[in-house]
Amino acid sequence: MRLLFIGDIVGRTGREMLADTLPRLRQSLRPDFTIVNGENAAGGFGITAKIAGEFFDLGADCVTLGNHSWDQREMLSHIDEETRLVRPGNYPAGTPGRGATVLSAGGGRQVMVINLMGRLFMDALDDPFAAADRLLADIAMPRDVDAIVVDFHAEATSEKYAFGHYLDGRASLVVGTHTHVPTADHHIMEHGTAFQSDAGMTGDYDSVIGMRKEISIHRFVRKLPGDRMTPSEGPATLCGLVVDTDDKTGLAVAIRPLRVGGVLSTASGTAE
Ligand code: FE2
Repeated sequence: MRLLFIGDIVGRTGREMLADTLPRLRQSLRPDFTIVNGENAAGGFGITAKIAGEFFDLGADCVTLGNHSWDQREMLSHIDEETRLVRPGNYPAGTPGRGATVLSAGGGRQVMVINLMGRLFMDALDDPFAAADRLLADIAMPRDVDAIVVDFHAEATSEKYAFGHYLDGRASLVVGTHTHVPTADHHIMEHGTAFQSDAGMTGDYDSVIGMRKEISIHRFVRKLPGDRMTPSEGPATLCGLVVDTDDKTGLAVAIRPLRVGGVLSTASGTAE
């Protein structure tokens, strides 16, 4: 099975890049299942039901979230109705929505998508390692699903690596999100799980992690509250990765980076 994962869509320029590029990528790469992290899609802060609907219309099969899940408060009531939206699974019990979902990938195949959040330099949440164990206690591949994708929304590379190794052999892909810069460490871990510590964002890289650079610099230099952070609106780079799995095991056989447009170097997601 071919999985396409696209990193954090930031603001209008990120959304427009996804709209321009995803239909073409679906033609050229022919993914069986596409996941988009959408937690910064609405002006950099959260996502609305309308924007999530646009992503599904473009061909996203699942949208994952993160620490900005509730910045658009409408999500608190909408998320229970939409099984294709996943928020971090280590929020406290009783939080609206779900931390994992199982969706159809066509051909009778099923993909489980899990979203969890790291705790290092992030809000204090439940233990993501224990949460992963709970979510995977009753569902395993290839017995119950054909692939398992984990979006680990976290700040620290060390925690992302520990988490990747912790799930190595139990997931098809563990991919980091949140830091908004694509890392060059995509590889298949010892027991068959594809890993990249951050997928990178889909947004304008002539910025400070997607936000207008002048506002961010002012905050660092002056240490005073300045203008509200707003997304940088220049040409976006779409960042993500393509993972091929073995349908017999669910484990990865290839992982390739994808970078399209904007100021970053290009990576096609194909084997050149
Ligand atoms: Fe985030």
